[in-house]
Amino acid sequence: KIAPMIAPSILAADFARLADEAAAVAGPAGEGADWLHVDVMDGHFVPNLTLGLPVVQSLLKATDLPLDCHLMIEDPDRWAIGYAEAGAYNVTVHVEAARDPVALAKNLRAAGAKAGLSIKPGTPLEPHIETLKHYDTLLVMSVEPGFGGQEFIPDVLEKVRTARRLVDTGHLTVLVEIDGGINADTVEAAAEAGVDCFVAGSAVYGADDPGRAVRALRERARR
Ligand code: DX5
Ligand code: ZN
Repeated sequence: KIAPMIAPSILAADFARLADEAAAVAGPAGEGADWLHVDVMDGHFVPNLTLGLPVVQSLLKATDLPLDCHLMIEDPDRWAIGYAEAGAYNVTVHVEAARDPVALAKNLRAAGAKAGLSIKPGTPLEPHIETLKHYDTLLVMSVEPGFGGQEFIPDVLEKVRTARRLVDTGHLTVLVEIDGGINADTVEAAAEAGVDCFVAGSAVYGADDPGRAVRALRERARR
């Protein structure tokens, strides 16, 4: 039995109270959140603007949770390394944005971080399978990146199944992560398809008790 990982997205949290919002989902292993998902948006790669390195640096001092930084930005080849050097646990860049994602992943790992690759819902996985050995996480987007609270796109589960198969047959070691529209209604289908780590924004921070929402999602995601 694989213990699913839960990564609440602070995109749905109160940005004026980030330390408290991180504490609200923290807890002992297997109970609290595994990672805290941080959506960095630049208003160019996606039509929304959120936060950047200074906020991540402050957040690193405010929580012990590993930060899972999801960079929805142009020119990650130039900017991603700063997040790794600051101490982010995992730094994920979009394959649609990076010029040389494999070289970037190597640099992220050399700087002490895990390296993640993210693909948008319409981006096929096949052309990138050979490069996945350079990454620690594969973030499959199940909504168009840019906004929280959107509806889950079930078609992307085919990519999850492919990645799961490659991991289970020993061809890959990458951790399969899903992001967008994950809630009590969608988490089971994602788990069945083979997701290891579930990002959830509104389903966690929109709940009265975010800590309880994390536990509830993990229970439903057991496979
Ligand atoms: C969307 C972000 C997601 C977002 C998910 O571009 O990458 O991490 O916070 O929010 P929900 O869980 O509400 O779909
Ligand atoms: Zn995200």
